[in-house]
Amino acid sequence: MSTSNRQTSMRTHMCAEIGDGLIGTTVSVCGWVAKRREHGDKLAFVDLRDHTGIVQCVIDNGVDVRSEYVVRVTGVVRPRPEGTVNGNIATGTVEIGECVVEVLRSAEPPPFPVDQRADEVDENVRLQYRYLDIRRERMQRNIRTRAKVNSAVRSAMERQGFVEVETPMLVPSTPEGAREFLVPSRKEPGSFYALPQSPQLFKQLLMVAGIDRYYQIARCLRDEDLRADRQYEFMQLDAEMSFVNQDDVLAAISEAVLSAAEAVTGERPSPIERITWRDAMDRFGVDKPDLRFGMELHELTSIFSATEFKAFAGATSIKGIKASGRAEEFGRNKLDQLTDKAKKMGAKGLVWLKKTAEGYESPVAKFLTEAEQSALTSTFGAETGDLILIVADEWMTTCEVLGQLRNDLGRPPVHQGPYRYVWVVEFPLFVGVDKESGRPKPGHHPFCRPHPDDMDKFETDPMSVRALAYDLVLNGWELGSGSIRIHEPEMQRKVFTALGISEEEANRKFGFFLKPFTYGAPPHGGFAFGLDRLVAILAGEENIREVIAFPKTQSGQDPMTNAPTRAEAKQLDELGIRTLPPKT
Ligand code: AMO
Ligand code: AMP
Repeated sequence: MSTSNRQTSMRTHMCAEIGDGLIGTTVSVCGWVAKRREHGDKLAFVDLRDHTGIVQCVIDNGVDVRSEYVVRVTGVVRPRPEGTVNGNIATGTVEIGECVVEVLRSAEPPPFPVDQRADEVDENVRLQYRYLDIRRERMQRNIRTRAKVNSAVRSAMERQGFVEVETPMLVPSTPEGAREFLVPSRKEPGSFYALPQSPQLFKQLLMVAGIDRYYQIARCLRDEDLRADRQYEFMQLDAEMSFVNQDDVLAAISEAVLSAAEAVTGERPSPIERITWRDAMDRFGVDKPDLRFGMELHELTSIFSATEFKAFAGATSIKGIKASGRAEEFGRNKLDQLTDKAKKMGAKGLVWLKKTAEGYESPVAKFLTEAEQSALTSTFGAETGDLILIVADEWMTTCEVLGQLRNDLGRPPVHQGPYRYVWVVEFPLFVGVDKESGRPKPGHHPFCRPHPDDMDKFETDPMSVRALAYDLVLNGWELGSGSIRIHEPEMQRKVFTALGISEEEANRKFGFFLKPFTYGAPPHGGFAFGLDRLVAILAGEENIREVIAFPKTQSGQDPMTNAPTRAEAKQLDELGIRTLPPKT
């Protein structure tokens, strides 16, 4: 570690730099008192902390320093006496002696210990005193990991000729999926800006504007229910490119993600594999497959093509998963719970079978022929003690229910290695049907390009049309999504028509976005991935809050600043806003 760039007029070294090579040298270090141990009247051992680590200072002149005091220590580096070497810290072979201690600032006793013990403290308290929480090694590491990722992503994009362009934070309201945050206009009372859910519209206009390759580390805002992988405010690596196909976009984004991973772990992950959406659903039952574990869905429809078992007869899709060696673990109660869960997800039921030495233990075994049972055994490679779960339904329900059960039964915490990246490609253009209008709903958004090979089915079988849309998945988390866009107004009209959006409605809602495309829009496509999610997984954290300096709690509050707070009457007057009393 080099001292040159962190040396200041107050310090010669960072704490972690104090080592054997400096023995006999006079050094000055600055930081916070992590710990003080008394040894008799005047002798004290003080652990001094800065963001690099801890160094022991021996103070023999009785200076009064306490936890979290800010001090500057000048002294001579010397080996620790035999028997006092501390293998747990990097500087454990040495200490600073003959110390002159300057108290730069005293401190109130902290509300929690500023070390790993704070991990056990209520998170609201950690967030209330976030500035103390961040003094800790874990948070220092996370925040610096985040900076590393940002920096690696930025240079990967620049290397590839992307130009950073900032897009506005005060934007028109655009229906993009999530609920928006609104900002009232003072000049036009009753009118509102929205905060951007993403720079989507602007980045596409930058392609019309000839920027060719745009990127931005963009702040996005969405008013959604918060979870481990969701905050109101989050950061995307957002990119858009012209004159490209899907392979070009995937290559550029892979370069950014893999460079970031390499910057953090020191190891470049192997090239990211691809799977089609259909295969992901077929094999893993979800569109964000976690490839770290097996338990894949097995196709059983043909086994039961002539079955007499009512629940299976006539089903268009029958699939199952095997939980190896887990028959015993799942008693009646647990199996009932799994069944309830399957039903809540829309399945009509769940069949379970436990492989025994004699055959199968299952309430439905008696309805299955011997041939069917032995086909099950060979399909699954089932052995005594295995648990098999089967769902029969239409394809989507079968996949989704088993995909959820597979995750429930087998998925490790997201941040546990190894890292398994996967591109999911060929998402469907439309998903499901709007109950009221009977029209298809867009899979991602209405600007995704239909797959050219499927255009002949556009009118006859729209639900089978694939989009040039893709997601990047890491350990079962969606890291990001993107698509090749529609750049021709005629094609856009076609998709709007399929979605039941009239020309009048399209112009009203998206007019400012559609008009530019009549002035020469290049073919283009892009992508955005969530930096918070990538950093969390690379930092070994299960919740993105741990890699955000000042996040909101699950209920959307900031215990440190107390935001959100009520506005003053005068402010509201100016904005032409009247509020209702708080809901009780
Ligand atoms: P999408 O809506 O899929 O795509 O968002 C891209 C990625 O952003 C991250 N993300 C979030 N991270 C934390 N908190 C949230 N609330 C949150 N919401 C989204 C996820 C997600 O995969 N404009 C398109 C991209 C494109 O088509 O180019 C978009 O925003 O990691
Ligand atoms: P989207 O394409 O924006 O709908 O991304 C949705 C995917 O990410 C889904 O598979 C969800 O599990 C997950 N998801 C949905 N909405 C969000 C969100 N706002 N933030 C993070 N993940 C989301």
